[in-house]
Amino acid sequence: MHPTHALDRHIALAGFMGAGKTTLGSDLALALGRGFVDVDAEIEREAGTSITDIFSSRGESEFRLLEERRIREALATCEPAVLALGGGALGAEVTRKALGERAFTILVEVDVEEAWRRVASVGDRPLASDEARFRELYAERLPVYRDCADATCSDLESAILAAGGVEVASGALARLGELAPGEGKIALIMDENVRRLYGAAAEKALSDRLVSTHELPAGEKAKSFGSFQRLLELLSLERGDLIVALGGGCTTDAAGFAAATYMRGIEWVSAPTSLVGQVDAGIGGKTAINIHTGKNLVGAFHWPARTVIDPDLLVTLPEQERREGMAELVKHGVLLGEHLWELPDAEMVRRSAAYKLKICLRDPKEKGVRATLNLGHTFAHALEVAGAYGSPTHGEAVALGLVAALRISIERGLDPVWLEEVEQVLAPRPVAVDRDLAWAALFRDKKVAGGRPKFVLLEAPGKPVWGVELGEDEARKALDSLIADS
Ligand SMILES: NC(=O)c1ccc[n+]([C@@H]2O[C@H](COP(=O)([O-])OP(=O)(O)OC[C@H]3O[C@@H](n4cnc5c(N)ncnc54)[C@H](O)[C@@H]3O)[C@@H](O)[C@H]2O)c1
Repeated sequence: MHPTHALDRHIALAGFMGAGKTTLGSDLALALGRGFVDVDAEIEREAGTSITDIFSSRGESEFRLLEERRIREALATCEPAVLALGGGALGAEVTRKALGERAFTILVEVDVEEAWRRVASVGDRPLASDEARFRELYAERLPVYRDCADATCSDLESAILAAGGVEVASGALARLGELAPGEGKIALIMDENVRRLYGAAAEKALSDRLVSTHELPAGEKAKSFGSFQRLLELLSLERGDLIVALGGGCTTDAAGFAAATYMRGIEWVSAPTSLVGQVDAGIGGKTAINIHTGKNLVGAFHWPARTVIDPDLLVTLPEQERREGMAELVKHGVLLGEHLWELPDAEMVRRSAAYKLKICLRDPKEKGVRATLNLGHTFAHALEVAGAYGSPTHGEAVALGLVAALRISIERGLDPVWLEEVEQVLAPRPVAVDRDLAWAALFRDKKVAGGRPKFVLLEAPGKPVWGVELGEDEARKALDSLIADS
């Protein structure tokens, strides 16, 4: 069976000459914080001469042996890296087998015209001197690439999505069955609203593999200990079977945690249907339920075998729920330094999901850079606690938290235009909560380390800094400005 993502695997970019594997590979390695091995360049460096010279002085078969050895060495390293393979590398069975064991292979797609245009203009490839032979070789190799590849991509964003096992596509719900990996039985978990709207379509898509459908209450009740226990007791699956979670963040959090714990962990598919879910909660493997002492206090990191995002499902999302998601999406836009909120829905979701995924692939267990996704959340959490999780909603609190984080960032040099945009898109209004309760909650946040809260700020658009400690006056002033007099 093909692996479904590259979380713990090397990423090998395969494809024909001229596909752009070297440039894409180095960009992908940078985006994911991984080492990069350009196999052809490594061979040239070790041999002290060009590949064209190796072909003419030692012959192609000698080159292929060098190539096999270099790939084997790169795959033997423990730290997952990104490899750009030469166009003929998949011709060797030993290489295909090693990739199957240790790598997630992504085919970089290019059509033959474009490939020829690119290589002919450079003219330094030994197998690209004759156009007719070039086209023949393309036709011979394409089926081998397709057979070996675990996924395909055409640019950096699609490579990141492929590496995380994420499919974002209009109409993806109808392909849920084909996207659900393996051949085992499937238990489908939805909340009551999503079941009413999309249950029949999901059941049809999962077809014969579906053995049970489970309904959770809508909203945070899905994440109560009682709902979670009832769900576990109704599941009747084996270790090789699959849970499919279709719904908002509450459903994917609870069902994902069920998958993480049932029979000590089985695979799951996250199919988020709310905007919060599609750009945030359904991506990156954090799963959780609530207990009386805190929200999300019990959970696990459990990366979904596949994440299926169908932006068409957002048409039925109530406006208030859309606003909840926009707060997270605007946060991603500010972190990325791009106006994601101006894009059409499908593109906006895809770009925002790819951003969240990139950060999670870099730091799956939240030990470093993933903390930047908490931009505005320390303030937001304090307001939510002071409002007893009634008012403000999480999205309203995040919008206010963003304002506070940006105001402080502006005092440290950020261009104020980003705050103006956030205020325009999210229109946050100060909330009437108890100031002292909010202040106390700021110091009880999960992100508090060593007794002092840590904040994420923005040095410049696209350049967050995290783990920043603020002076008490500065933090109090920023928090107070979010609170209305009651
Ligand atoms: N795991 C993570 O990384 C992560 C990140 C962010 C948030 N979360 C969690 O996500 C939860 C919030 O998620 P949410 O905002 O999606 O809430 P939710 O799951 O309660 O969904 C919101 C409402 O929208 C409905 N809904 C969902 N999709 C719909 C659709 N396509 N059409 C019509 N109605 C639809 C649901 O039935 C529900 O009533 C919180 O519990 C939060 O802690 C988790």
